[in-house]
Amino acid sequence: MGSIKAYLDAPNLGTLEKEYILRAIDSTYVSTVGPFVPEFEEKFATYVGSGRAVSVQSGTAALHLALYELGIGKGDEVIVPPLTFIATINPVLYVGATPVIVDMNPETWNIEPDEIEKAITPKTKAIIPVHLYGNPCNIDAIMKIAKEHSLYVIEDATESLGATYKDRQTGTFGDFGCFSFNGNKLITTGGGGMIVTNYIDKAQHIKFLVNQARDASRGYYHPEMGFNYRMTNLEAALGLAQLARIDEFIEKKRKFRKIYQEIFNDLPYIKFQEESDNASGSWWLTCIKIEKDIDISNLMIKLKEKGIPNRRIFMPASEMPYLKKFSKPCPNAYEIYNQGICLPSSTLNEEEDIRKAASIIKETLNG
Ligand SMILES: Cc1ncc(COP(=O)(O)O)c(C=O)c1O
Repeated sequence: MGSIKAYLDAPNLGTLEKEYILRAIDSTYVSTVGPFVPEFEEKFATYVGSGRAVSVQSGTAALHLALYELGIGKGDEVIVPPLTFIATINPVLYVGATPVIVDMNPETWNIEPDEIEKAITPKTKAIIPVHLYGNPCNIDAIMKIAKEHSLYVIEDATESLGATYKDRQTGTFGDFGCFSFNGNKLITTGGGGMIVTNYIDKAQHIKFLVNQARDASRGYYHPEMGFNYRMTNLEAALGLAQLARIDEFIEKKRKFRKIYQEIFNDLPYIKFQEESDNASGSWWLTCIKIEKDIDISNLMIKLKEKGIPNRRIFMPASEMPYLKKFSKPCPNAYEIYNQGICLPSSTLNEEEDIRKAASIIKETLNG
């Protein structure tokens, strides 16, 4: 079997994106004022089925604002998973609160509701579940715990745009849902994010905060502390073009995962993330766990040499020197980290590329 060219998570940008970007440039509105920003917010809110969407500079900014708007701060605890991009946890520290890191479910690779329950103390204020790699969490169980203990839920849906639970989009169950449009995500604005909520008053306040909390009716008057977290018109132009193509992207991502599952079907030591009942993942990245005695770093190198880009599962947050003290024991997270790998999943690939990639991976594992 020869080597091939496959893409891990590269963005899929075409003529529609160029058209929108040129329209933004020709209009001279390239910065934060311009018609594409409200249009993107409206269309995004409609797409996910939320009352209001506010565009921001990144998924990290969305998470920061959600915590800030809820008044979470010093002395408060926020429950988070260990297997995630670090941007889920850092905003908890930005607002001065304490992250409490609890273990994952070994099958879904998402935060385990039983572990959440065990970690609740009188100081707990919120849970940030992450729909890892596009796989919805067991959101019913999480919302039930939150309700029983009067906790806020901020969904980190940065990797799960398009994924559904009981036919409802991830990011719309909690008090806030946070999305990322980083270059490698399902849709991109180059770099950007969105925060969605059904609390219209809170959304309006966030819209005000992201613009340095400026009351323009009084010139440069700022009644409170704000942030510069605004999305630009140029970014929103790209976002609108990408949003118009989202169904095509999701269909491809789902198909790619099916192809990997078909081709690895006779390798019982390969495990995929399991979907919770009633969940439908959007599979931003298809990842596998290889339950076999292999050196994962060595496998990653071998695959790269054969033209198969790949990446390691997130390192458990408890490994970070500044977070160690906030972590409960997380054996499941370590097991997934030690045996897991993310496979080529970019929508730039065609089905044939994924078939070839899967065959090469299989041959390498068998070799
Ligand atoms: C799980 C998770 N949370 C938060 C973020 C932060 O998003 P951004 O990079 O847009 O700040 C990302 C993506 O990068 C992510 O994967």
